[in-house]
Amino acid sequence: MNLVFLGPPGSGKGTQAVRLSQAKGVVHLSTGDLLREAVKGGTELGRQAEGYMKKGELVPDALIIGLIEDKITGGELNNGFILDGFPRTVPQAESLKTMFEKNRIGLDKAVLIAVSDDEIVKRLSRRWFCPTCQAIYNYPTNVPRKEGICDKDGAELQRRPDDEEGVVRNRLEVYKKQTQPIEVFYQKESLLVEVSGEDTPDNVFQSVLKAVG
Ligand code: AP5
Repeated sequence: MNLVFLGPPGSGKGTQAVRLSQAKGVVHLSTGDLLREAVKGGTELGRQAEGYMKKGELVPDALIIGLIEDKITGGELNNGFILDGFPRTVPQAESLKTMFEKNRIGLDKAVLIAVSDDEIVKRLSRRWFCPTCQAIYNYPTNVPRKEGICDKDGAELQRRPDDEEGVVRNRLEVYKKQTQPIEVFYQKESLLVEVSGEDTPDNVFQSVLKAVG
């Protein structure tokens, strides 16, 4: 199972990608998580990416393509994968296609999770995450057993700096301008399948399973 997950910020890509990767035993690779780890670790990549992320802008293509290329050539995607948050521009989608061809990897589907802007702003204002294991929570749809504490490892939950409403609105604009054109790219490749993300996480998961076959 080789998949790309597309969709606006807060549409539920991460939530669904984690569930599907666990159900199917494939790798879940989130460029957002990789970048946040790099920022936290103070690496050169993190230093270069942090300013863009804080404003809700995209990190330059060259940085992010290099990151994915390392994963592909390192063999991390050889036994099935879900790419979450990559590609995000047409040049990234074109580069990914070339990298896959070079490494004889076939893409099965690009799954678009569609959610309205108002629902996204609402969801992201209530999102919390675990800085240790990256688990995602939400009030009231996915509440931890003990308030503010991760169920899995007991770490104190945090908010993402880019979930502040003004930044979320900018991320939505960036999505429309820079990322939405790749929906057409994958439609032309006959790989695009669309799922409504405006249902309970369990029902969305059922729709995703149906869409990927
Ligand atoms: P990234 O981390 O990829 O953020 P994003 O795409 O904006 O998506 P999110 O992680 O915010 O949301 P999601 O769709 O995963 O939703 P989630 O499941 O958490 O990227 C962050 C930044 O990194 C970018 O802005 C950019 O700067 C940079 N970057 C990353 N990749 C890049 C690239 N390729 N090129 C350039 N720059 C890049 O769900 C959201 C909330 O809703 C959660 O609280 C969840 O619990 C809840 N929820 C989920 N499903 C449901 C449901 N069905 N009903 C109710 N609530 C739900």
